[in-house]
Amino acid sequence: MDGIPVDVFGRPMGALRISLTDRCNLRCRYCMPEEEYAWLPREDLLSFEEIERITEAFVSLGVDKVRLTGGEPLLRRGLPELVQRLSGLPGVKDLAMTTNGVLLSRHAEQLREAGLHRLTISLDTLQPSRFSQLTRRGTHPDVLAGINAAVATGLTDLKIDTVVMRGFNEDELADLIEFGKNMSAEVRFIEYMDVGGATGWTPEKVFSRQEILENLAQAYGSVEELHKTDVAPADRFQLPDGTVFGIISSTTQPFCATCDRSRLTADGMWLRCLYAMTGTDLRTPLRDGASLDDLRDLITGIWQQRRDRGAVERVGQRAHGQVFVSLENLKRDP
Ligand code: GTP
Ligand code: 5AD
Ligand code: SF4
Repeated sequence: MDGIPVDVFGRPMGALRISLTDRCNLRCRYCMPEEEYAWLPREDLLSFEEIERITEAFVSLGVDKVRLTGGEPLLRRGLPELVQRLSGLPGVKDLAMTTNGVLLSRHAEQLREAGLHRLTISLDTLQPSRFSQLTRRGTHPDVLAGINAAVATGLTDLKIDTVVMRGFNEDELADLIEFGKNMSAEVRFIEYMDVGGATGWTPEKVFSRQEILENLAQAYGSVEELHKTDVAPADRFQLPDGTVFGIISSTTQPFCATCDRSRLTADGMWLRCLYAMTGTDLRTPLRDGASLDDLRDLITGIWQQRRDRGAVERVGQRAHGQVFVSLENLKRDP
């Protein structure tokens, strides 16, 4: 079995996103409800050894971009140790993390020392009252402190992700760009998506890529689109003063055609799409003693059958007035 596995539509396997916990210290309205979930029991979570083993299998098949996510990944105890293990794997060229930033000021230094390459921090508003309204928590100052700590510690490749929602924060786009400039961080505006816990999603609340561009052209005079360099979800743009920002238009212009990413849940289910309805349990074979080759064969065989185009299909379903089914209905592959 040679080379990077390719799926039914010719898409090679690329980036892997690893969820380290399902828990979170915020309750963003576009992601989860206020009430406590039945969180995963500790023994169901993949251990650091298991995550390292699975990552090794993916990397040996050609994956070289790995991103740690959650829930909130900084809630996972001992995280720097995992970062050290993964950044030390030959073949991992890019190890990144997505965090809400609340606990970042405590961890930034250790993460950099452990070898984290890049950090993306979610920040949807610069206004504390809006933050509390959106996240149902009052920790906006902690997020700002976390971003400052990341800058101070020398984590240079910083991004700020902002979900734009009509009637909530579309009047802050230029302010966020200016904030990003001060932090030397690239801001990326994300179209509001009707995924999982986004129970309040309606098409009217989507502030589209087109509207974002018009809004910023008004504020800055002009916006120039930059040439796309890779298959990352963001399209990049430049303002007259040279500032670069991104837009992820998953809702109005899905990137399924070039999507090379897959994700691993905290309990070891492997999903080939953000909108996946089925996943493959990698934890059970691993705990039953699967070798690296067994894992590689399993992963390859499944990727070769991949047909997922979740966001594109969602556009079609919306056009026909259908509603989507949430991640809670996720089933194991038969
Ligand atoms: P870079 O390597 O920095 O380019 O990372 P990235 O852009 O892949 O970042 P990340 O994986 O954090 O994704 C940023 C945002 O893109 C997410 O918060 C989602 O809103 C959206 N996104 C990520 N993965 C998918 C996906 O598989 N499908 C869709 N439709 N949207 C996605
Ligand atoms: N729409 C768009 N982006 C979302 N995210 C989570 N839920 C949604 C949604 N409904 C993204 C945000 C957040 C990251 C963790 O996931 O970018 O910052
Ligand atoms: Fe937590 Fe991120 Fe979901 Fe907000 S979007 S509740 S920060 S996991």
